[in-house]
Amino acid sequence: MVVYLNGEFVKKADAKVSVDDRGFVFGDGIYEVIRVVDGHLFLPDPHMKRLAIGLDGLAIRITGSMLDSIIPIAEELIEKNELTSGHATIYLQITRGHAVRTHEFPPIDTKVTIYMSAAAFTPNLGIQEQGVAAITMADIRWTRCDLKTVNLLPNVLAKQRALDAGVFTAIFIRDGAVTEGQNSNIFGVKNGVLRTYPLTNYILPGITRALVLEMADKEDIPIDQSPILESELMEMDELFLSGTTTDIQPIVTINRSSLGTGLRGEVTERFQELLRRKMAKA
Ligand code: PDD
Repeated sequence: MVVYLNGEFVKKADAKVSVDDRGFVFGDGIYEVIRVVDGHLFLPDPHMKRLAIGLDGLAIRITGSMLDSIIPIAEELIEKNELTSGHATIYLQITRGHAVRTHEFPPIDTKVTIYMSAAAFTPNLGIQEQGVAAITMADIRWTRCDLKTVNLLPNVLAKQRALDAGVFTAIFIRDGAVTEGQNSNIFGVKNGVLRTYPLTNYILPGITRALVLEMADKEDIPIDQSPILESELMEMDELFLSGTTTDIQPIVTINRSSLGTGLRGEVTERFQELLRRKMAKA
């Protein structure tokens, strides 16, 4: 596998980052995961916009030309790794670079670390049809979940706790409301109305989330961006997860109880179909 690191394309085994890298020492960085379909990046512009906002949020300074070079580098990685047919993902991480360990920012001339890789990806069609089981869990993350930082420890612990409990995903609960999953946004459907947590500092502004809302608008499906309360969860007609590597996955079991019929709902299936079509056109 060929990856990109700080201006060079190298074999993954030869890509080396300093042990003083602030990404390693502090989790001081931003990342993105972009879907690739038949060699084409899916929705690259919103990913780049979110990346720029994230870098700004962390005050990691990169030049405009460096930011502009990311998409061409991603495209070159797709070519070099022969990922021009089928599904794949691009992983991108930018950290504040390597420097002597101090909590404050390093000297102004410290070079940021830019790493990108491309990998084949297989959408899990079985899960998309059958749905997944979830457990609710306290959302113990910090209050800037809108920034896609590499600080993913609460997300890692949540996913492992879910797997240890024999289920697929965590449903995070903050202040009595469903925020999101550990690596996906969450939607509910009740009486034909689509519900999801509003865009605040408590969730990631998911690119797939935005696309679902756009598709709902086009389909005249009413949208209510008000949090699904924990007490309302089991009363939802449908629930689903959305994300770049999630696509749209129905949640059919919560805390060991079936949601409704325990089967994928109609609205969920409709969004899956719309997403498939959108990807096919990308
Ligand atoms: N995760 N919420 C969280 C906490 C996420 O980590 C992600 C994505 C999403 C969905 O966002 P998007 O639709 O832009 O992928 C929501 C990525 C894919 C990951 O960590 O692998």
